[in-house]
Amino acid sequence: SSEMYMLYGGILLPRETHSSESLEFAQGFSFKDDDVLLVTYPKSGTVWMQEILPLVLNGGDLTSILTIPNWDRVPWLQGKRFAVIVDQLTSPRALVTHFPYNFMPPSLHTSKAKVIYVMRNPKDVMVSSYYFHQMAAFVEDPGTFDEFMDKFLEGRVLFGKWTDHLKSWKQSKLGDRIMYITYEEMFKDLPEGLRNISDFLGRNLSEETIQKITEHCSFNSMKANNMSNFSLLPKTLMDFDKSPFLRKGVAGDWKKHFSSEQLARFTSVIRKELEGESFSLPWS
Ligand code: PPS
Repeated sequence: SSEMYMLYGGILLPRETHSSESLEFAQGFSFKDDDVLLVTYPKSGTVWMQEILPLVLNGGDLTSILTIPNWDRVPWLQGKRFAVIVDQLTSPRALVTHFPYNFMPPSLHTSKAKVIYVMRNPKDVMVSSYYFHQMAAFVEDPGTFDEFMDKFLEGRVLFGKWTDHLKSWKQSKLGDRIMYITYEEMFKDLPEGLRNISDFLGRNLSEETIQKITEHCSFNSMKANNMSNFSLLPKTLMDFDKSPFLRKGVAGDWKKHFSSEQLARFTSVIRKELEGESFSLPWS
């Protein structure tokens, strides 16, 4: 732990965005049946889905996307702003969390709220996170890429170990209330991803609306949207000269960063930790 981080239930959290009050508020939060909870391990496609979900839920109306910053549009369940913003949301609400399953408030289980879990190749997650730790002032310096890889694999990073997060949500007993989708699927064919999300949420979007949402949620459109690109934040919090938040937006950038030794190390640790699990992953 450090001055920047707090330890909560065994995982590290940034103090900038969390407090004991905000964590307590989240535990007492009541989910409604028509709520949608977006769940991601950090750097797996959160901001992308904070653009997609409101558009899918409201039939492609761009108003919220163009007037509300993503952190208030799809607010962070355990974050400090949640108590401030939650009463202003209109249903159906979309909310977001980076927490493992066992940190969810009891009302998630008693409600019929739906959950969308977005996962991404952990190698790209780590690369994205490495740059994020260089540009964001409220997280620790990552050290060298090799040092950061050790921290990532050991779970000495924000929100804990990637494999623990994945396992917790894969083993959740949410049945047909949870949908799993990957960053890579969305990257390869966003219209198809949008159709799947829309089906899961019981929306019936026309092909025209799917195309409109696709265009609006492209990397370049989002980079140009001040409500989504974090340009509203002061440079003292996020320094885009070091790295933009919407940095590259591709699948497979890890290939430009990993040595063959690092790839072998990374792969063997992840494989070992997922040994015996009943699910398989689309990445080697
Ligand atoms: S955070 O801090 O956890 O909320 O970050 P998160 O939004 O989960 O992840 C950031 C990465 O997602 C990429 N991104 C996109 N890729 C493709 N298309 C779109 N529209 C898009 N929007 C965000 C973003 O660029 C980060 O990945 P990297 O690899 O660093 O570019």
